[in-house]
Amino acid sequence: MARFQVLSHLVFVGVHLCTTSLAEGRVSPRQSDGEEMWKGVGKLPFMGFNTWNGFGCNYNESVLEENAQLMINLGLKAWHTRIRIDVGYNYVNVDDCYSEPQRNKDGDIVVREEKFPSGMRALTDKIHALGLYVDSNPSLAIPGNTPHSKAGIYGDSGWFTCNNGSGSFQNEERDARLFQVEWGFDLLKFDNCAVPYDIIIQEGQVGKYARMSNAIKGLAEDTGNPPLLFSLCEWGRLQPWLWGRDLGQAWRTTEDIGPRWDSVTQIINQNSFHATPEKEQFFPRINST
Ligand SMILES: *[C@@H]1O[C@H](CO)[C@@H](O)[C@H](O)[C@H]1NC(C)=O
Ligand SMILES: *[C@@H]1O[C@H](CO)[C@@H](O)[C@H](O)[C@H]1NC(C)=O
Repeated sequence: MARFQVLSHLVFVGVHLCTTSLAEGRVSPRQSDGEEMWKGVGKLPFMGFNTWNGFGCNYNESVLEENAQLMINLGLKAWHTRIRIDVGYNYVNVDDCYSEPQRNKDGDIVVREEKFPSGMRALTDKIHALGLYVDSNPSLAIPGNTPHSKAGIYGDSGWFTCNNGSGSFQNEERDARLFQVEWGFDLLKFDNCAVPYDIIIQEGQVGKYARMSNAIKGLAEDTGNPPLLFSLCEWGRLQPWLWGRDLGQAWRTTEDIGPRWDSVTQIINQNSFHATPEKEQFFPRINST
């Protein structure tokens, strides 16, 4: 069962595409110098395991650790004992349902203790120690794709997450710091539930995503470390292939992927209409989680 689950819920993720002008929004993105700003983060599509499509809310730290270990046991990491095979799955991503609806008195997101009794830092330490994407042959290393296991976390651009966890609206800087500096994550998937009515905020979806993008870029400037890989998840509603590049390295273009081949092919088909390879600086990607 576990084997089936890990295989059927590994998903291809990544970015796709071109830049044009940004849709209007009061919060404009911090100027970025393209690849220089990202320091190689997200240059290649990221691939890995995400809890949502396999488990929904029904997971905890042991389930995550077990699935991360299965990525190694099943040969999905980037190492094979005799022949080097870069399969390339090196991300283990925590999706929705890890947080309490209420922040603590300091204003920070609170992890659901019954699911993560050891805490998030212990989890990312374990994931990082797994040696997914061990690269023992430097001549085969891909520039910009740091040979390291990576851990991903989930957040939401609105008041609450899609499953009533804490959203990051108006807490973007605090949360970016918590995710990356305190908890040790490498990637943030940022969802689109419970967003404030735009008649009040008037910054549009682009503005709401620019808030977290700016927080992530600002934090990277402060710490001097590479930024969180920012994976926009606004479900392809507002053509993120036209503006996502300025904000992050990956943007989902469709509704949820399912653990079925016809779901995968449907998403490939939808993305084929957005691909503009001649404008690519980054590799063309499909982002599905
Ligand atoms: C996580 O869930 C599994 C299966 O539901 C259970 O066996 C395990 O004890 C749980 N782990 C923690 C840390 O609660
Ligand atoms: C969501 O969280 C809020 C705030 O804590 C709570 O009042 C509400 O009952 C929760 N809703 C659900 C469906 O759990």
